Amino acid sequence: MTSSLNSPQNRKSRRVLVTGGAGFIGANFVHYWCRRYPGDRLVVLDALTYAGNPQNLASLEGNENYRFVPGNICDRPLVETLLKEEAIDTVAHFAAESHVDRSILGPAAFIQTNVVGSFTLLEAFRNHWQTLPVPNSGERGPIFLHVSTDEVYGSLGPEDPGFTEQTPYAPNSPYSASKAGSDHLARAYYHTYGLPTLITNCSNNYGPYHFPEKLIPLMCINMLLGKPLPVYGDGQNIRDWLYVEDHCRGLDVVIHQGTPGETYNIGGNNEVKNIDLVRMLCQLMDELAPDLPVRPCESLMTFVKDRPGHDRRYAIDATKIKTELGWTPTVTVEEGLRQTVQWYLAHQEWWRPLLSPEYQDYYRQVYAN
Ligand code: NAD
Ligand code: TYD
Repeated sequence: MTSSLNSPQNRKSRRVLVTGGAGFIGANFVHYWCRRYPGDRLVVLDALTYAGNPQNLASLEGNENYRFVPGNICDRPLVETLLKEEAIDTVAHFAAESHVDRSILGPAAFIQTNVVGSFTLLEAFRNHWQTLPVPNSGERGPIFLHVSTDEVYGSLGPEDPGFTEQTPYAPNSPYSASKAGSDHLARAYYHTYGLPTLITNCSNNYGPYHFPEKLIPLMCINMLLGKPLPVYGDGQNIRDWLYVEDHCRGLDVVIHQGTPGETYNIGGNNEVKNIDLVRMLCQLMDELAPDLPVRPCESLMTFVKDRPGHDRRYAIDATKIKTELGWTPTVTVEEGLRQTVQWYLAHQEWWRPLLSPEYQDYYRQVYAN
């Protein structure tokens, strides 16, 4: 059950390497962690791919406990140097290629970063962790947190119970297959080498700093630009939406209290059909946006060709993390979407530069017909 292991007062400070910290969830995690544990050392390693944005972390510049290192998780000498010179005792591994549609267009980068990159990190940490001082009794030792997805479990039918940690893996996209591969490696490193790995499989996140290609930011931005809102297939696919701040709290308790070698599912308890979600966003935007090129936003909704292999439904059963670690989500989808729409309205200077020529090329490829 819940203990005070993650209470800022009762713990020894940690030295955390955050991979992928310039991306959506990584950046939210870095801000969360700096607020909650200001005495911790935080080193972000990020290759700044199209999805990585230094602006997401700009407000931390000048914080002496924080360091940003541009670099690739596949670069073993760099990773080894960082682990050693920063005496890292905690890895929070977010870096990944994360978008299903891009994995359909070009899977190679997914294998490289998600599988080879995760392997490189695990190998480097395996050599490093035993050089760290032995923790005192009652003190939390080194941790390697591997952040993964519910998509590794495949797709649910309408009446199926949610995914538990026992659900067999059945990934359907190159993205989810590459994440499944890295999950297996993290698990194997615990069983074979005793490396203190923890795996979390979470549902769809949303909130600030979400790159425009994903459903919720894409819809918000298209509404603000008066562009069509492309709903794949019949719009009846279901996702379990998790507000990113709730996710970060879940990762916090797993890092501090999770049992090494274990997996924890983290879900929002917010299952919504895509079509209903887009309608909710339209209503919020109609209500909150002062000037819109097209109103009502629902008039922009357009059904487009379905995604190949599109998983029908994801849902998480988060009983384990609730009963063992005392975590539950707190943000309802109504509250979370309102905050998210307000964030995209107030941060046009953040998202407008992301609609680059490269992004427009990607957009044309996915939404061409
Ligand atoms: P994102 O695409 O927004 O960010 C990924 C970050 O990783 C970027 O900053 C990018 O520059 C960096 N990166 C990519 N390749 C790299 C490499 N080779 N070396 C170093 N850095 C690299 O992703 P996200 O949505 O923040 O997802 C973070 C993690 O959470 C991923 O592992 C993803 O699989 C997982 N996840 C995400 C969701 C979601 O809803 N977004 C849901 C479940 C799980
Ligand atoms: P997405 O945000 O890409 O997350 P994931 O595929 O990892 O669940 O998509 C969420 C859902 O929204 C998914 O069922 C696909 C659908 N979708 C659309 O209908 N239109 C879009 O333009 C996008 C990007 C997604």
